[in-house]
Amino acid sequence: MSQQTANFYNKFSVFYPLVDIFLKPQKRKLFHEINTLPFGKLLEIGVGNGAHLPLYKTHGITGIDTSLNMLEIAKKHNPSNINLLQMNGETLLFQDESFDYIVLSHTIAVVDNPEKLLEESYRVLKPNGKIFILNHFTPKNWLRLVDYSFHFFSKIFHFKSVFHAEELKTLEKYRLEKEVNFGTFSYFKLLIYCKS
Ligand SMILES: C[S@@+](CC[C@H](N)C(=O)[O-])C[C@H]1O[C@@H](n2cnc3c(N)ncnc32)[C@H](O)[C@@H]1O
Repeated sequence: MSQQTANFYNKFSVFYPLVDIFLKPQKRKLFHEINTLPFGKLLEIGVGNGAHLPLYKTHGITGIDTSLNMLEIAKKHNPSNINLLQMNGETLLFQDESFDYIVLSHTIAVVDNPEKLLEESYRVLKPNGKIFILNHFTPKNWLRLVDYSFHFFSKIFHFKSVFHAEELKTLEKYRLEKEVNFGTFSYFKLLIYCKS
């Protein structure tokens, strides 16, 4: 884990609700997809301040994060049946094939090593388990220039503004099941992959 990223999110935790305002519309779609699935064990990596935790309706949830301050706030939003732990998504302490579903909501471009995160997710997913990746992805149209211009500043905010799913080699181990787009001018996508 990058201690700097954890430190950043420890300080940023009080401002995160402002960021969350822009993320809410896509999260509604994410939770619609998740809540219509049969009951299963679900791991959210990078659960953050957990403001969305009450939106989980169906599954047995475990949420992990490296930032203690984010987890402290998450505990306040936490329905009692959700297990919250401090853990690094790049070195998960769970046994192989422990979960039916994994959620990475605005986390994959924040961790130091997204390939390790996807490797570890693959390991702890059960066969036919699903991983939900909600994130910004650099578009192929002229809007990509916005990501390139933010590249320098994004380091200060501990995320990768230029981010292409096609460059993630570990994703080739999974099978793409569904891609949800949020309009021509949206940076966000929900990608649903299956461990085949
Ligand atoms: C942008 S926030 C997303 C929070 C939440 N999932 C959401 O959708 O609002 C990213 C979160 O990932 C956490 N994080 C960063 N690196 C991590 C890692 N290696 N393992 C687990 N969590 C990590 C940060 O502390 C932060 O809370």
